[in-house]
Amino acid sequence: MKLSKTEEDMLNGHMTPGEQKAMEILVALGEIYGAEKMIPITSAQVSGVSYKNLGDAGLEFLKDWAGSGAKVKVPTTLNPAGTDIENWKNLGISKDFAEKQSELIDAYKAMGVTPSCSCAPYMIGNAPRYGEHVAWSESSAVAYINSVMGARTNREGGPSALAAAIAGVTPYYGLHLDANRKAELVVEVDCDMRDEADYGALGYIIGKKIGSKVPYFRFAKKKKIKPDWLRTLGATMAAAGSVALFHIEGVTPEAKRQSMVLSYAKKIEVNDLREGYSALNSDASDIDFVAIGCPHASIEELKEIAGLLKGKKIKSDMWITTARKIKDSAGSLVDEIEKSGAHVVADTCMIVAPIEELGYKTMATNAGKAACYAPSHCGLSVRFGPLKKCVEAAVTGRWS
Ligand code: F3S
Repeated sequence: MKLSKTEEDMLNGHMTPGEQKAMEILVALGEIYGAEKMIPITSAQVSGVSYKNLGDAGLEFLKDWAGSGAKVKVPTTLNPAGTDIENWKNLGISKDFAEKQSELIDAYKAMGVTPSCSCAPYMIGNAPRYGEHVAWSESSAVAYINSVMGARTNREGGPSALAAAIAGVTPYYGLHLDANRKAELVVEVDCDMRDEADYGALGYIIGKKIGSKVPYFRFAKKKKIKPDWLRTLGATMAAAGSVALFHIEGVTPEAKRQSMVLSYAKKIEVNDLREGYSALNSDASDIDFVAIGCPHASIEELKEIAGLLKGKKIKSDMWITTARKIKDSAGSLVDEIEKSGAHVVADTCMIVAPIEELGYKTMATNAGKAACYAPSHCGLSVRFGPLKKCVEAAVTGRWS
C-alpha cells in the first residue's frame, strides 16, 4: 500500500505504540482487500462494547490499547453496552457484570471515545454527511448511513473501526469506491408494506437471499416510507445476510442522483412476506418479555409506544431500548411509558444484555434484527410482529 509520511511514521513506531498497533491492523486489512492507499475519515462508530460478548480477554485487550497512549483523532461514538449504566439493578443485572461493564467503557473513554452506548449514533449527533468517508462497525448503522445518508463506510469490525479512529484513516476499498456502490440486484416488491414489521420481514427474505450484495428496491405500491422503517429494513438485511448498502428508487440519495443499477443486475420479485414472518416466529403463545427498540428507538417511536400504553398495565416485562441522550430528551414520555410498568432502558439492548441470565423464555418484538438474533444469542423463543401486537402481548402476557 502507498502510505503517507505520517502513516509510515505511525506504522514504524515513530509515534505512540497505540498508533502503531492501529496502523498494523489497518495495513493488514488493506492488503487483504487490495486497497492502494488509506483515506482520511471524519468519524467512527465502535462496536464490541458489551462485557457479555467481550469477556475478560476483551477487557484486557482494550485496557492494553488504552494504556499504550492511543487516542482517537476523529469524533468516535460507542455501540450499546451490556447494561443500562445507571439502572442495572432494577433490570436484574448483577453487580459484578455492571462493574466489569463500567471498566470496559472506561477503557474506551481513556482513548477519547464518547460513551454514547447506542447503535443509532446518527440520531444523537454523530451524523455523517453525504459522501463523507467514515469507519463504522455497527451493522444496522452501517446500512443506514451508507444507504439513507449517503455516507461511505465498509462494515467494520470493532477493532478495525477503533484502529481507524486512532489513526484517523481507513483503507480505501469496498464501499468507499464508486464502483462498488452500484446494485447487483433489483428487488421488485409488489405487496402492501404497512408497518415496521413488514419491512423487517422483507429485510429477512432479502438478506437471506443476497448475503452481502447491494440491492435496489422498487416498490410497486408507492407509499411514504418512515425513516424508522428504513432503519429496520437495513438492520434486518444486515442480520439475516450481511447487507451494508441498499438503494430505494426515488427514496435514497444516491438512487435519486444517478442510475445505481448495474446493467447485468438480476431481478428478484417479492409478492408475499409470509416467508419472512414464518422464519422469524416460533409457535410460543406465552410471552414473558417484550423488547422494542432495535435499532435504538427514536423519539417518534417513544411517542407511539406512550400512546399505545396509555392507561394500561403490563403483565410481561417490557424493555424499550434507546440512546441515553434520547431518553434524557424525551421528558414526560418516559414517565408516561413507565406508568404501565415498562422500562425505558438506555445504553444497552435486548441482544447484548445478559438476557439469558434473567430467566425469560419467550420474547415478543417488532424488530427483525432482534428476532433473528434472540434465539442464538439469548436462548429465547421469539414472536415477531408489529408494535401494536407487541404492546398487546405485554398487556395480556399472550401472543394472539
Ligand atoms: Fe442495536 Fe442491539 Fe438491535 S445493538 S440494532 S438494538 S441488536
